[in-house]
Amino acid sequence: MNLACVVLAAGLGKRMCSSLPKVLHRIHGTSMLWYVLDTVYELDPERVVIVVGKHAREVKESIQADINARLRNCCISFAYQKEARGTAHALLKASPFMKGFKGAILVMNGDTPLISLKTLRKIISLHKQRKDIVSLLSFQTHDPGSYGRIIRDGKGRVLSIVEDRDATASQKKIKEVNSGVYVFETGALPLLKEIKMNVSKGEYFLTDIIQIAREKGLKTGAYRIGSEDECMGVNTCEELEKARTVMREKIINKWVHRGVSFIDTKSVFLAPHVKIGRGTTVYPNVHLEGKTKIGSKCTIYPNVRISDSVIEDGVIVKDCTLIEESVVKNRASVGPFAHLRPGSEIGTGTRIGNFVEVKKSVVGAGTKAGHLAYLGDAKIGKNVNIGAGTITCNYDGYRKHTTVIKDNVFVGSDSQLIAPVVVGEGSYIGAGSTITKDVAAKALALTRVEQKQIQGWALRRRGKKRAKRKEESGKS
Ligand code: UD1
Ligand code: CA
Repeated sequence: MNLACVVLAAGLGKRMCSSLPKVLHRIHGTSMLWYVLDTVYELDPERVVIVVGKHAREVKESIQADINARLRNCCISFAYQKEARGTAHALLKASPFMKGFKGAILVMNGDTPLISLKTLRKIISLHKQRKDIVSLLSFQTHDPGSYGRIIRDGKGRVLSIVEDRDATASQKKIKEVNSGVYVFETGALPLLKEIKMNVSKGEYFLTDIIQIAREKGLKTGAYRIGSEDECMGVNTCEELEKARTVMREKIINKWVHRGVSFIDTKSVFLAPHVKIGRGTTVYPNVHLEGKTKIGSKCTIYPNVRISDSVIEDGVIVKDCTLIEESVVKNRASVGPFAHLRPGSEIGTGTRIGNFVEVKKSVVGAGTKAGHLAYLGDAKIGKNVNIGAGTITCNYDGYRKHTTVIKDNVFVGSDSQLIAPVVVGEGSYIGAGSTITKDVAAKALALTRVEQKQIQGWALRRRGKKRAKRKEESGKS
């Protein structure tokens, strides 16, 4: 399909009462703008243009971070609207990026994060079927608030859109409103230049395009196919809160129907692309972010945050654990109070326990790191015992180095492994050792200072103290 997409994101967002650009406000860890882009990308558009303005740098940086984390290889152009002079002016700034493109242009507001792919597909296909020059997506609401009202003639044909501020008392009562989603033929772009400034706001309104096209005898259509929840535009903090609630309930209900148990649905936050297997139990205050995938029959205990990670079947994530961009394989257990940093892979049946931090490390199947350890840039084999207090010293102040611990190694408590170092298969490291050299397979490495023993020392000490006390009491 020949499709391009323009997302308007250059508004100042004055109604948000916040210095953060409106479209970067987050819902369950993801910006509103990214929700829109994520949905748009499912349509496989040829070009995507985001119109940015005063906050261009912040918006670009945020989008770049999302691209890096999730959707590599997507090409976005940024059009710059220096002054926020209205939605029509914003689209005009994106027009040069459509040079040489022929087809349909989906135009959307960056503050409509709940819009569904299904509805976008529908409006594009209606646009093509009906051969409109501009089509718009409308919806019915009990409270039309600040939305533009859809004005139709006696035969139901759309005549124009009237913004709330300009609506007469009877127009204000109209319950069919504009969602801010349009499909344009490229041929409609020149009409933008004919839009006059709205005097009451001092801006050029994109909504005026309908009337202009209509007056020229060009075919336009308004299709009431969106639900109120998905079409909701977020202009204020209250609306952001409402969008969060709607998003949360929608997502959680989906997973309840697919066999996931939530101890308290009201305190769980799931990003839209999270997946959870049947028979998994999720306790209160759990946040699952990004593209996290949880397998079946897992238990996720309270106060856990997992982002962009894969948790396979039967895994237990215990209380107060943070897992980022990592993989936890079948039947492993992580936590309580554990931290898996990006690039970690925890093997089948492996146990990562209390206060253990793992960074960019592979921990093999059946290995145990039960308490208080730091495992960074490490390759740890199968059935290894990592004693309490073990630290891989991976950083020399300049560079990071790798620690390799082969299968069946026993690392005694309170050991430091100064990387780069290789600990051979089946070897033992005595507790309290500082390992600076490679350890041969099946060897015992020990760097402890030998223990001294002084027989009767305690008795003699006590005897001396008693004699001193006697002497002092005699003097007084
Ligand atoms: C707009 C529509 C309204 C519709 C509603 C749906 C207009 C005039 N009105 O109103 O009919 O019911 O959306 O949610 O279009 N933006 C720019 N540059 C600007 C101004 C805005 O890029 O100069 C961007 C904003 O960042 C935002 C989007 O355009 O993402 C919409 O702007 P906003 O001010 O939120 O319009 P609404 O008043 O909500
Ligand atoms: Ca809006």
